[in-house]
Amino acid sequence: VKFTVEDQDGNRQEVEAPTDMGFSLMEILKASEYPILATCGGMALCATCHIEILEGPDELGEATDIELDQLENLPEYFPTSRLSCQIRVSDMLEGAVLKLRGEDV
Ligand code: FES
Repeated sequence: VKFTVEDQDGNRQEVEAPTDMGFSLMEILKASEYPILATCGGMALCATCHIEILEGPDELGEATDIELDQLENLPEYFPTSRLSCQIRVSDMLEGAVLKLRGEDV
């Protein structure tokens, strides 16, 4: 699957990821050397893997309750904010545009 990532500086780049390996989006972003802390390792506890869905299917922008608990503690979050560790890489990401909203590291 191919999608576009916009970093904290506004630079956009296309990322390609396999959908059959069970990776989370956070794991793909880290492997692509984006500056994501992911301190909790994908447990939905740290919110440093925060992203905003700029374009993509509506379901992709719907955070689960466990994510909202973390997002609500952040100084700023958006209607389509998600924790990238809680998004399983799937065809739903095809053509999506994501913005990194975690702190730059
Ligand atoms: Fe910690 Fe996603 S990696 S909340």
